[in-house]
Amino acid sequence: MVRHFLRDDDLSPAEQTEVLDLADTYKADRTSAKPLAGPKSVAVIFEKNSTRTRLSFEVGIAQLGGNPVIIDGRSMQLGREETIEDTSRILSGYVDAVVWRTFAQKRIEAMASVSRIPVINALTDEFHPCQVLADLQTIRRVHGKLAGLTVTYLGDGANNMSNSIMLGGATAGMHVRISAPAGFQPEQWALDDARKRAAETGGSVEVVIDPRKAVEGADVLVTDTWTSMGQENDGRDRVGPFRPYQVNSALVASTGVKTTVLHCLPAHRGWEITDEVLDGPDSAIWDEAENRLHAQKALLVWLLENSS
Ligand code: CP
Ligand code: NVA
Repeated sequence: MVRHFLRDDDLSPAEQTEVLDLADTYKADRTSAKPLAGPKSVAVIFEKNSTRTRLSFEVGIAQLGGNPVIIDGRSMQLGREETIEDTSRILSGYVDAVVWRTFAQKRIEAMASVSRIPVINALTDEFHPCQVLADLQTIRRVHGKLAGLTVTYLGDGANNMSNSIMLGGATAGMHVRISAPAGFQPEQWALDDARKRAAETGGSVEVVIDPRKAVEGADVLVTDTWTSMGQENDGRDRVGPFRPYQVNSALVASTGVKTTVLHCLPAHRGWEITDEVLDGPDSAIWDEAENRLHAQKALLVWLLENSS
């Protein structure tokens, strides 16, 4: 059986912990372990822009002794008439794993449906599970645990980060609160899937529209851009409704506790987050970005070791 990572619940709670433990090992020692020596090749394909994901996969695969093959998906035959399934069959004959950043989740599901090698979601419109693995690693290193902590996500409650925080956080046994304006609430399927996972772990998922109430007692605050890639021209007002959800000093103070602030980046300074928070003492954002490297190395090695 081939293991894929298309969404956060493709890892069980115990498997998620195994990956996070391995990620901490790689953070402590970046270069000794070479499980991809040979080398194994990994195709890393982008149909949207990327700084962190591209760099962290390319560097991480090389550190593991592997051969990263970075491709602009828009220049592939995939960008013309070749089907996703035929592309996947070709990739399975050349490389040992595929990492793909694309648009609709159904595209990466089509890639995985015929793949003989692991497929990893490097961001779709619906999920960003590699980011949330790094977020969980970061939170666990600050707070010493995940289960039982409260994480509040503020912003677009229906985007990839919101969905992955709900599903990945619930997998870790966290209490997840989503705070989003009217019209940008989580979709019902995403709430249902995350609550199903939370029921297994003792976590919870709730929607709290008032941002000040949503952050009360929160151990972690997470935000993201109000306009995700592909939404630039969707005709919706993606500023006005979000202003009360800005992560600024006053909102951080409203937690009433020592909190940790995360943002997957790129940040739109002065919009969803202010400079004083992003660069301030509660921010773990730069460590979070670095942890993409360690978490993805761990994920890749885990998927390859657990596939047959
Ligand atoms: N956070 C994140 O995925 O960053 P990039 O878009 O730069 O890869
Ligand atoms: N929600 C953002 C995340 C960027 C890493 C987007 O999809 O553009």
